[in-house]
Amino acid sequence: MKLWGGRFTKEENKLVDNFNASISFDQKFYKQDIRGSKAHVTMLAKQGILTEAERDEIIACLDGILADVESGKLEIDDTYEDIHTFVEANLIERIGATGKKLHTGRSRNDQVALDMKLYTRDEVDEVKEVLYTLMKTLYKIIDENQETYMPGFTHLQKAQPVTLSHHVGAYFEMFKRDRSRLTDIRKRMNTCPLGAGALAGTTYPLDREYTASLLDFDSATNNSMDSVSDRDYLIEFLDALSIIMMHLSRFSEEIILWNSNEYKFIELDDSYSTGSSIMPQKKNPDIAELIRGKTGRVYGALMGLLTTMKGIPLAYNKDMQEDKEGVFDAIDTVKGCIMLFNGMISTAKFNDARMRKSAAMGFTNATDAADYLVEHGIPFRDAHGIIGSLVLKCIEKNCALDDLSMEDYKEACPAFEEDIYEAIKMETCVDKRNTKGAPGREAMKQFVEECGRYLKEEYA
Ligand code: ARG
Repeated sequence: MKLWGGRFTKEENKLVDNFNASISFDQKFYKQDIRGSKAHVTMLAKQGILTEAERDEIIACLDGILADVESGKLEIDDTYEDIHTFVEANLIERIGATGKKLHTGRSRNDQVALDMKLYTRDEVDEVKEVLYTLMKTLYKIIDENQETYMPGFTHLQKAQPVTLSHHVGAYFEMFKRDRSRLTDIRKRMNTCPLGAGALAGTTYPLDREYTASLLDFDSATNNSMDSVSDRDYLIEFLDALSIIMMHLSRFSEEIILWNSNEYKFIELDDSYSTGSSIMPQKKNPDIAELIRGKTGRVYGALMGLLTTMKGIPLAYNKDMQEDKEGVFDAIDTVKGCIMLFNGMISTAKFNDARMRKSAAMGFTNATDAADYLVEHGIPFRDAHGIIGSLVLKCIEKNCALDDLSMEDYKEACPAFEEDIYEAIKMETCVDKRNTKGAPGREAMKQFVEECGRYLKEEYA
């Protein structure tokens, strides 16, 4: 079924039609298409371009089509080129001549620009929502684990002791930035392209600002050529989604490491792990691996659209139809990954004792031992060397700095006193670090409060 039979004489070619069609994927926004048409018709009637009776007839019929699609009575099938054709054809079939007036002062170019924006705008809100749910889970972990000590790493080498609360807090901050990026994008994209026509506006006296307000946009777009060919907001959205995946992927990588036999910091719930068909001992972190893996397809969607858009002259070109599948897939992937990550992390069990032992056996208090000497008048460079020699001794004896005898300490440097043991205790090492953002008790108290405030303020 074609909207443009008039100019054509030759029979259609099935292969070409299939290649050209978008209905298999743009049916995803049938709701938005109908919503846009209803707003358009309402505006046409306000401007005297349609009568009120015509408006009411069209709107009632569009509502009927929507209801029938939702109930399954009306199936969206691929005899139509796209969702716009499908809706309009059904409208005309149901109410005849009046239905033919719907497309007055409109083109599929501004129509599809609108539909995609409406669809994406809702999805921006939804991604923010699922991220919020994940952040609530993280908040619980942060709140409850301010004294769960673990090694902090640099270069994947044990560096200084931190707490689980502090470590997970880093991800809370990342997701907070991700949500604020989405808020920014939503603000910038919130202008209405409808009424831009094919590219040069229209001769009908449309009230574009009125249509924009009916559809909850801040205003109508400023330039009709830009309106039908702007896909920046999709690129920005894919960028934000890619960064979310990058964060989830890093977190997943840590979960995978922590779940390994070597670390054993965490045990994933059976429901979020899988076994091996051959090795009975295995409990694999497949969900975390899949989230890490799916990052690739979201980056792919971003690169794909950037590449599609790079050489397109103004205004609309059919290349732009390629914006949809990648974006849809990226949205579904990201939402799914966030939800599964949330389920995985909220059911996982942290092995506090194991994390603490790992921090103790990793000389994560070596900096604090050096600082102790500095407090006793030894220059930092010398202190660094002295503690280095003690670490060597520990490696020989297979013990922690805490396990060396007073004799060992005195031999390395006479400035050591009994209180060295207190100074290098895990609790002391962490709790002394109270600069803003550090893992110490006081600093963390501020941070946890700040996280709680954020969740309260953002509660929709
Ligand atoms: N399916 C098209 C798209 O997704 C709709 C716009 C068609 N416009 C046109 N002039 N052929 O971009």
